[in-house]
Amino acid sequence: MATLFKNIKELIQVRNKPVTFLSGKDMNKLPTIKNAFLVIKDGLISDFGTMENCPKHNFSEVIDATGKMILPSWCDSHTHIVYAGNRENEFVDKIKGLSYQDIANKGGGILNSAKKLQETSEDDLYNQSKSRLDEVIKLGTGAIEIKSGYGLTVESELKILKVIKRLKENYPLPIKATFLGAHAVPNEFKNDKQGYINLIVNKMIPLISKSSLADYIDVFCEEGYFSVQDTKRILEAGKNYGLQPKIHVNQFNAIGGVQAGLAFNALSLDHLEIMREEDVESLKNTTTMPVALPSCSFFLGIPYTPARQMIDVGLPLAIATDFNPGSSPSGNMSFVVALACIKMKITPEEAINAATINGAYAMGLQTKVGSITKGKLANVILTKPISSYNFIPYAFGINQIEKVYIKGQEII
Ligand code: NIG
Ligand code: FE
Repeated sequence: MATLFKNIKELIQVRNKPVTFLSGKDMNKLPTIKNAFLVIKDGLISDFGTMENCPKHNFSEVIDATGKMILPSWCDSHTHIVYAGNRENEFVDKIKGLSYQDIANKGGGILNSAKKLQETSEDDLYNQSKSRLDEVIKLGTGAIEIKSGYGLTVESELKILKVIKRLKENYPLPIKATFLGAHAVPNEFKNDKQGYINLIVNKMIPLISKSSLADYIDVFCEEGYFSVQDTKRILEAGKNYGLQPKIHVNQFNAIGGVQAGLAFNALSLDHLEIMREEDVESLKNTTTMPVALPSCSFFLGIPYTPARQMIDVGLPLAIATDFNPGSSPSGNMSFVVALACIKMKITPEEAINAATINGAYAMGLQTKVGSITKGKLANVILTKPISSYNFIPYAFGINQIEKVYIKGQEII
């Protein structure tokens, strides 16, 4: 079973030698092959090159990609797609002038989503989440991380992680699960935050680990949520169960979350809208991926991660959607790529690297997805006829994707 794509106008993100992640000036290099072919066999990328060397033998399917481009699927390393209902009402409150914190103080925000989720059955939650996953796959996502964090009780956090497990079992794309019990302090523990942290540390983490329901651990390290000290305690507990951190830091305030994450060898540090000099500095020469979430900045009207400055001092960068009901009710990676270029002033090459290979690294999937490399999963995007790859971010909000393939199978 082999499929040949021929006459590809440009095959994008071609890496003959595998790369782990890209930093600094290397992020502006996006290797491509013009007038290319690509062969997919048994769900994997098996060959590619220029049309002069296109193999002639019989293929079960031959697709003529004249005028079109192929690139690796987007790698969305930060989402919260397992949630119940939505928060349209808060959206309107926000238009009328309330801030994210005002809404949270009114009992809205994460606690509002947690209440809805607690009242939703596992099957219903699965179906709601499944439709969001179907949607983002059609938008070009070919690997995804999904967090818990809208449960905030032992039972409901487990419910979310079980839904993620079912998605893992039923979908062909790589999915990573992150435990985010420390997303907010539930009302029952309003005056006893330590009591809730005890529950996370003594009950949730051991249970989740016993059932292998999480790949990573997350904490919302922020004023009014979890302090640096709380974060360290939770990460220490996670570490004892082999859970590497991927944490929410510096979204509204810089309180030392970057340094706490680094001390626990975080795989990624996400948000980073508010960055002090020392935060940028401490990320240098580490193996931790900074992840910017430009659609969250767009939706909440908060500052964008200083991505230009970070890349200019040599840091790597990944970009992700943060798809969730409160701060980014959209999982469109092409739009995130556009926002990264338009608002964070990074080049299309940097943005595509951030949304593919560096996103893959931020999920520990860099050997499986994120580039056109022999042996990697054939999770690819076939574009509509476009003049250059710059057109993807330039024509923001307009879908340039004609078809997506996961393990070589067309998604319909
Ligand atoms: O990544 N900041 C924390 N968590 C989510 C938003 C959660 C919500 O508002 O529901 C985020 O932005
Ligand atoms: Fe998030």
